[in-house]
Amino acid sequence: MNTHSTTPRTAALVTDGEAASDGAGVRMRRMIMSGELGMIDPFLMLDWFRSDQPQDYLGGFPDHPHRGFETVTYMLAGRMRHWDNKGHEGVIGPGDVQWMTAAGGIVHSEMPEQENGLLSGFQLWVNLPADKKMQPAHYQEFAASSIPLDDRPDTGAQARVVTGTTSKGVTGPVRDIVTEPIFLDVHLAPGGVFVEPLSPDRMGFVMVHEGEVWLAGENEADAPRLREGQLAVLGPGDHVRLSAGEKGGKALLVAGKPIGEPVAHGGPFVMNTRDEVIQAFEDYRAGRM
Ligand code: CO
Repeated sequence: MNTHSTTPRTAALVTDGEAASDGAGVRMRRMIMSGELGMIDPFLMLDWFRSDQPQDYLGGFPDHPHRGFETVTYMLAGRMRHWDNKGHEGVIGPGDVQWMTAAGGIVHSEMPEQENGLLSGFQLWVNLPADKKMQPAHYQEFAASSIPLDDRPDTGAQARVVTGTTSKGVTGPVRDIVTEPIFLDVHLAPGGVFVEPLSPDRMGFVMVHEGEVWLAGENEADAPRLREGQLAVLGPGDHVRLSAGEKGGKALLVAGKPIGEPVAHGGPFVMNTRDEVIQAFEDYRAGRM
């Protein structure tokens, strides 16, 4: 008996998300912070923007502020140009990640760098604890080529490791995130299986973005099937088991350490109290962000 892996994380909830629009009219699916699912501490929000209709995305996300948390953009297709008022500018494309720790405040824009074709990517909001919310903003940005692969050819699985360290010792390039997350993009060949230990104190989710993926059930036969576009909240347990049918599948596996503090959310600001959110709006209006 394997004494290290005894209880698989099953799906505590499965959601299709809801249609949403943000920025200057960008159409997306809101998976976390929707009507069905609030936060999965420390993850505040997850959006999947995906369209090959330029009118759905050309408006982009013009200048807007953030304070009190981190925004993570992970691209699947197309290109976005980002700019911010702290001196960063660049373009991210398929497989690239930008992990922006907005913390004390930043004003940025994210605009599609294309006028046609498919634009697809995720934006994840990761909360910060009270003692990190007002630190200086900073960025970590990595091209697809610098995101290592945890390759498991014996089980038909590969994981792109954005942050965290897998059980095979592969460490992602995004470092020093206070909630100690893992962010994996797991690619399963037809019939592939990916098993990864995950400490019981970590909260997280599986988000299927291609094909179909089974998340372990209490036993092999009752594993819930997740279709493309579905997110499962991970229930209690000490490991995650993902498997694919004859079509294969791709899914994000993201988990982190819950913060357990009060959350006051107002627009682009996520603080601990309502007064701190009001202060954030005042600071933004006064040009102090
Ligand atoms: Co933003």
